[in-house]
Amino acid sequence: MLYRRLGQNVEVRKLGVTYGKVEAVRDVSFAITPGEFITLLGPSGCGKTTVLKMIAGLIPDHRGMIAFGGERIDHLPPNRRNIGLVFQNYSLFPHMTVSENIGYGLRMRRWPADSQAARIREMLALVRLEGLGARKPDQLSGGQQQRVALARALAFQPDLLLLDEPLSNLDAGLREGVRTDLRGIQRRTGQTTILVTHDQEEAMVMSDRIVLMNAGRIEQIDTPEQLYSMPATEFAARFTGAGNILYGVYLRDGEADRICIDGLEAPMSVSTRASTVGPPGSPAAACIRPEQIVVRARNDVATLEAFWPHALMTTGQVIDLAFCGGTAILHLDVPGLGLLKCARPAMEVEGLRFSDHVAVAILDCHLLPRGE
Ligand SMILES: Nc1ncnc2c1ncn2[C@@H]1O[C@H](COP(=O)(O)OP(=O)(O)OP(=O)(O)O)[C@@H](O)[C@H]1O
Ligand SMILES: [Mg+2]
Repeated sequence: MLYRRLGQNVEVRKLGVTYGKVEAVRDVSFAITPGEFITLLGPSGCGKTTVLKMIAGLIPDHRGMIAFGGERIDHLPPNRRNIGLVFQNYSLFPHMTVSENIGYGLRMRRWPADSQAARIREMLALVRLEGLGARKPDQLSGGQQQRVALARALAFQPDLLLLDEPLSNLDAGLREGVRTDLRGIQRRTGQTTILVTHDQEEAMVMSDRIVLMNAGRIEQIDTPEQLYSMPATEFAARFTGAGNILYGVYLRDGEADRICIDGLEAPMSVSTRASTVGPPGSPAAACIRPEQIVVRARNDVATLEAFWPHALMTTGQVIDLAFCGGTAILHLDVPGLGLLKCARPAMEVEGLRFSDHVAVAILDCHLLPRGE
């Protein structure tokens, strides 16, 4: 029972809601396949919780449609949508034991008593809380309470699990543990899930696909890998990781896409992977991820050129150097380009010091349409 794949496609189309004069959400459309883990990612106030509430039936007067398995459910009240919900603040029933909390949805749905007991045992094992069924919520740690909330939401086999910032009340160490647990449980149960978070790292490590939101609408829908390597907009590039954004003009050189970067005395071109910026001559931006920049001591340019013959070569000065585990984060002052952030394996930059003049190679960049 626990390991079946749930077989419902979920589709939302043109969801929207306006509060007073504020259009909190507009034209939000996406589809989820059975067993998929989707994350709504975006800054505070962009409408993530509002979308989740519409799907759960908690905002009656919204625009658009919601369908499970091809059938519209947007006219149904919340308790008839078969959705499991977990919020940031656990919201367990304090007067009920852990087992009673987990069994709540089963009692509401009138499962037979022996099936309820078996399902509660199964859920306690799933979230690794065997033996704690008789405790009250206030006798559990935050991480344990959050796992009870998850077990309660999963117990009645919802068509869809909705998680709104479920990890943000946990401290950093615990958060990583519960994150891994949550993803493991989701994979084992094949539970179709929508997570809401404003934490891009959480979204990246947990999701099959990310729905990136900005000011009430969808900015981009993609896998974490695609979102990181091919952000569609400047907003997507900035929100999905520390990027270096440089401005210039898009050029077409035979078969190759290039960008002429502003502010360089002798204009330079950088080869790119894709272009959605309009015809050659259009203003464009280049997103250069920190790991696409390599540095060496100034007298070591030949090694850079030999290793990366197609890279853009320049020079700069180290103005900040910090070690973060096995990764070194460097800030480079590159004449013409300004400040660039670079991330290298710590071993590779051993010997480099603050204020050193260095040779810099930009390996790759991604073209973006220029933001407003
Ligand atoms: N009931 C309401 N009445 C009026 N405005 C609302 C209401 N609910 C939400 N809003 C507004 O709608 C916008 C989206 O809110 P929402 O709670 O969906 O954001 P969010 O992306 O979940 O943000 P956060 O990451 O801070 O939780 C915000 O500008 C918010 O102020
Ligand atoms: Mg929210």
